[in-house]
Amino acid sequence: MNCAKNKLAIVGVGHVGSAVLNCALSFNLAADIALIDIIEKKAIGEALDASHGTPFTYSPNVHIHAGGYEECKDAKVIIVAAGPSILPGEKTDRLLLADRNVQVIKDVMTAITQYTKDAIIIIITNPLDITLYCAQNLFGYPRHKVFGTGTTLETARLRRILANKYAVDPKNVHGYMLGEHGNSAFPAWSLVNVAGIPSDRLDEYFQPAEPLDREKTAAEVVSVAYDVLNFKGCTNSGIAMVACRLARSVLFNEGSIFPVSTTLKGDYGLSQVALSLPCQITATGVTRRLNVPLPAAEKEKLHKSAASISQVLRSVGL
Ligand code: LAC
Repeated sequence: MNCAKNKLAIVGVGHVGSAVLNCALSFNLAADIALIDIIEKKAIGEALDASHGTPFTYSPNVHIHAGGYEECKDAKVIIVAAGPSILPGEKTDRLLLADRNVQVIKDVMTAITQYTKDAIIIIITNPLDITLYCAQNLFGYPRHKVFGTGTTLETARLRRILANKYAVDPKNVHGYMLGEHGNSAFPAWSLVNVAGIPSDRLDEYFQPAEPLDREKTAAEVVSVAYDVLNFKGCTNSGIAMVACRLARSVLFNEGSIFPVSTTLKGDYGLSQVALSLPCQITATGVTRRLNVPLPAAEKEKLHKSAASISQVLRSVGL
């Protein structure tokens, strides 16, 4: 009997893709994990290495293997982490990867669409909003079945920073970073709260060592990625957990809401651009995109972020 197993395909098993593999195993996301990489022996080695952990730590029926794009045919989720990242010491702007990684995503999507238009595709490859826009608009793939990790990672960083400041569980910090996964991402402070206490009253309730400096915190959320890059030579753990959390909302049909990147269709007056707004994620992909209430100042930041992304989209012919 060919039971419909939860199958995850990971395209690109470099620093990020291999971290996604390990996170997928620890989340018990799938019974079958296929690894696809342009360097086949890398995929074989990552599969072999991870499989040696399964006898003791994961349900033994987790089948981890390398393969070609034919593995996408029966995959329920495909996580795309292919292409280079910015390196320590390089200019700190993911948008500079656009020329190179738009071509990578074109190659990946061309290969995937030979085998499926049914799997939910989660894009990680940077510059994320540019590569997502390409994947979602150029291949006739069902739009709701493709989205990018977007500012879900910045949102996790914001929640962690505020949780540390106020000594609370980050799961009790609510609110979002919105816009570009990159330098123009911004905190929608109007939505940030802890236990319903709005961001402008958190100091009053939690008495932190230092008062909340909104500008400084917003800048820290954006720059901390480059700190990680300079400390360890890459970023992979945070983004891998984010991608696997999104995949879990798909595979378990959770309906959770995350700020993932999708192409806007008139939202806040914006079109022909991809950026992150809160979206509901279910087994069928992006079920709805929420135009959350934003004050004029935050709408202005969203438009500035969109302008930055649009400029690069047009420069690479998208
Ligand atoms: C980061 C990479 C995933 O922000 O863009 O860590």
